Amino acid sequence: MNVFVLGGTGFIGTALARVLIKRGHRLTGLVRSEASAKKLRSIGGQPLVGDIARPASWIEQLPPIDAIVHLAFDLDADMGTVDGRLLDAMLRRFAGQRPRPRFITTGGCWLFGTGGNEVATEAAPFSPLPAFAWMVPHAWRILSSRAVKGVVIHPAMVYTADGGVFSRFAADARAGAAIRIVGSEAVRWPLVHRDDLAELYALALDMAPPGSSYIGAAIEALEVGRIARAFARRFGRPNQTPQIVSADQIAGELGEWARGYARDQRLSGAKARAELGWRPAHLDPEGEIAALPA
Ligand SMILES: NC(=O)c1ccc[n+]([C@@H]2O[C@H](COP(=O)([O-])OP(=O)(O)OC[C@H]3O[C@@H](n4cnc5c(N)ncnc54)[C@H](OP(=O)(O)O)[C@@H]3O)[C@@H](O)[C@H]2O)c1
Repeated sequence: MNVFVLGGTGFIGTALARVLIKRGHRLTGLVRSEASAKKLRSIGGQPLVGDIARPASWIEQLPPIDAIVHLAFDLDADMGTVDGRLLDAMLRRFAGQRPRPRFITTGGCWLFGTGGNEVATEAAPFSPLPAFAWMVPHAWRILSSRAVKGVVIHPAMVYTADGGVFSRFAADARAGAAIRIVGSEAVRWPLVHRDDLAELYALALDMAPPGSSYIGAAIEALEVGRIARAFARRFGRPNQTPQIVSADQIAGELGEWARGYARDQRLSGAKARAELGWRPAHLDPEGEIAALPA
């Protein structure tokens, strides 16, 4: 398949690009810098220079495409507007193409609310973090478009042993500082390793029915206190207590989006397992943290 990836040099996108190349797909990736172009080439992809904020400057240069995966994103306040114009341009570009390309776009766990002990599925009503509320109508637009075969993947909190949503814990632990967590130790995060998530995107490319959504959660929920304590143990401070910061404090430091860290959630990846045969391999984040090199 000829796959066009937006965001193929990001945290999730890099893992996806590797999986797509390994599975024999041809990959074109949008890149906005020479550094990203080099990174994509080193994985085996073909860069197309361009910015998601200016689709008119690159969209006609796209080679023939069978599928699109959208993982390009930044935390600027106008991201919703930029993404809306990007979707306008993309859906115009692919209108009339036959067969229709598959278009996988990305939502996220922070579009779902906090449900106490209930485990949310794809059928749960959205209750997005205000900073990401624009994603809900955009996802719906892709799902209902007649120009593409739309699919939405909602990743849980994405990690590697010391990267992604664990990178702040790892940095605090390596610096010998108290590990900071937002809200309380009891806040639960649904989790997925980025390599497992990349496999889910690849499976969805092959077989997700148009109009379908999947939650990419390998682990329904893990208390952040357990993650913080695993880092403290690994870096020689087994008795260290995590430092609790409030959602207001973290929002003041990083931006309103960071309130998501305090969301207590349980999410199910059962639909992806049942319908796509997704088999996440990483199910023991605490074990992976314990095995980190010093
Ligand atoms: N990470 C998580 O835990 C998580 C959880 C749920 C949902 N998600 C969603 O997953 C998506 C990707 O997340 P991520 O963690 O992989 O993000 P990331 O590491 O920040 O990667 C973002 C990607 O978008 C590209 N990009 C950003 N602005 C661009 C622009 N103006 N023009 C062209 N490319 C641009 C970046 O390119 P450069 O290489 O040039 O920077 C990079 O490849 C986001 O939609 C995010 O909301 C993530």
